[in-house]
Amino acid sequence: MCGIVGYIGTRTASNILVEGLRKLEYRGYDSAGVATLSEGQLNRVRAKGKLQNLQDKLDGLEDSARVGIGHTRWATHGKPEEHNAHPHTDGSGRLAVVQNGIVENYRELREELIAKGYEFKSETDTEVIPHLIADYLAKGVEGPLANESILLEAVRQAVGDLDGAFALAVISADFPDELVVVRQQAPLAIGFGQGEFFCASDTPAIVPHTRAVLPLDNGELAMLTPLGVSIYDFTGRRLKKHPITLSISPTMVEKQGFKHFMLKEIHEQPGVVRTCLENYLSTDWDPTSDHSPINLGLDVSLLDGVEHVQIVACGTSWHASLVGKHLLEKLAGIPTVVHYASEFRYSPTPIIANALTIGVTQSGETADTLAALDMEQTRRTEAGKPALEPRMLGITNRPESSLGRLVPNVMATHAGIEIGVAATKTFVAQLMTFYFLALELAYRRKTLSGEQLVDIIDGMRQVPTQMEQVIEKQEDYTEELAHSFTDTQDFIFIGRGINYPIALEGALKLKEISYIHAEGYPAGEMKHGPIALLDAKVPVVAIAVPGSVYDKVLSNAQEAKARDAQLIGVAPANDLEAEHTFDTLLPVPTVDELLSPLLTVLPLQLLSYHIAARRGLDVDQPRNLAKSVTVE
Ligand code: F6R
Repeated sequence: MCGIVGYIGTRTASNILVEGLRKLEYRGYDSAGVATLSEGQLNRVRAKGKLQNLQDKLDGLEDSARVGIGHTRWATHGKPEEHNAHPHTDGSGRLAVVQNGIVENYRELREELIAKGYEFKSETDTEVIPHLIADYLAKGVEGPLANESILLEAVRQAVGDLDGAFALAVISADFPDELVVVRQQAPLAIGFGQGEFFCASDTPAIVPHTRAVLPLDNGELAMLTPLGVSIYDFTGRRLKKHPITLSISPTMVEKQGFKHFMLKEIHEQPGVVRTCLENYLSTDWDPTSDHSPINLGLDVSLLDGVEHVQIVACGTSWHASLVGKHLLEKLAGIPTVVHYASEFRYSPTPIIANALTIGVTQSGETADTLAALDMEQTRRTEAGKPALEPRMLGITNRPESSLGRLVPNVMATHAGIEIGVAATKTFVAQLMTFYFLALELAYRRKTLSGEQLVDIIDGMRQVPTQMEQVIEKQEDYTEELAHSFTDTQDFIFIGRGINYPIALEGALKLKEISYIHAEGYPAGEMKHGPIALLDAKVPVVAIAVPGSVYDKVLSNAQEAKARDAQLIGVAPANDLEAEHTFDTLLPVPTVDELLSPLLTVLPLQLLSYHIAARRGLDVDQPRNLAKSVTVE
């Protein structure tokens, strides 16, 4: 959480910093600030709230600085007020720091620094960092990097005192041609331009200027000057590293005529499914061929002898993983468990032999998911037994992320950059990777016949067109329907089997962007307690699609109707039973039940979007949330 940017070069720094922060605002929008260096001075401007407030303050100011750092904040320590906004400075106001992350031992450090006479002006953990660096500078810096740069060595020493997960950018008016950056368990990438260099928490802030990008690894720091970039590890050893060329283009992060990114991303989903099909399906496969219909793009020996799957994830990725569990069990017959990463990292289940561990995270930066995977990888390596050895797989939309560097095997979800804080297209793309993984395992374990594989793959190929039909038909209808719910306070979503996670996802989408209280339940559980909540004021959305539990869900929906609940059904079109049961129908085409989540989620996304938009809320940047949750 929080986004940091830095620039050193020949152009006006503040413009580039604010433009970069705009691309990172999804990481937090409680406050924003920049600090720049010009004429021997450090100038700092900060504002509470959205980036626009900072932009308004900067608009009237003359600024010729060519070096600077910027920050957009998701508050952890200290309220979202201007005095807690980054950059934070030392006592002289000549050295400034921005941080993404948390300094866990900041209380002790703060007390030590206060005892030495340093004065604090914020409640943040970050403010200890500029004071610590100033303290090292005041003492006179000696050490492995002191010959390169006094500031760099002072930062290196200060970082040695910090516990936690953080990425930093540091500038000082006393070292006007230097920008020092640090990465320790929080993302940071460096961009290489022509005579100018950038740093940012995420690459969309860099790609408008250059596609040559180097993501730092944990335990590294770098010095950016107008002449180049040098990279070191925390012991002060110089490292040789080369940038990679990114393929994302700047236009991918524009709204392209849609009112919100979320709506654009909902509409992009059929295209995302097509891209996934192109990437993961073998083109020349038929049931008589001697190879798999799936091309996972990784060394499939990873899957040899796998008897169990365990998945760690958070939020929407956790919901996608629950659908994944269903697919792995039904198609490939592999017992699968799904853990909340935040729980698993501190209370792991007993170690299981011959297990594949999968981490699912669209951003590839979620602190809990990374920590859970790291813990699992370490404890399995330490166990030192062949059956327990780590087999790790990551599923992410950002293969260049920290996840990509943590685990050796990654499946990319190919959804393109997602800006709306509420995940939509990346969810559908995660589902797609689970279909491919389950089909590959089914092929290898011979749990499906050639004919069954053909049927499922044929069904998948039709999904993009079916998705287009659902979106096209329901866009206006859900917008209209949203009018009835502008004052609704509670919603219940129910589903069963493979559509139970879709009920959870529908409820999460609604609560995060519309702030309406919503819960998802397995439909059969309603009568064990939650049904007590129902009356005419609580709408119930039921996902009822033909297949193993269709009649059961319809009966559960009737039970809700008998309690006066207004019933909305995500159900087949032209089905008399559905028409009789539901007050309002959000129709989806009838497909193989196993493929249905790809379609049933669409009306729920549209409904949530339109309710939130109708309420006049900030759909893309809902309160208190951030897209990339890099703190635990
Ligand atoms: C919900 C949402 C969050 C994320 C969660 C995990 O719309 O976006 O619940 O799914 O924070 O994020 P990733 O997938 O990046 O690990």
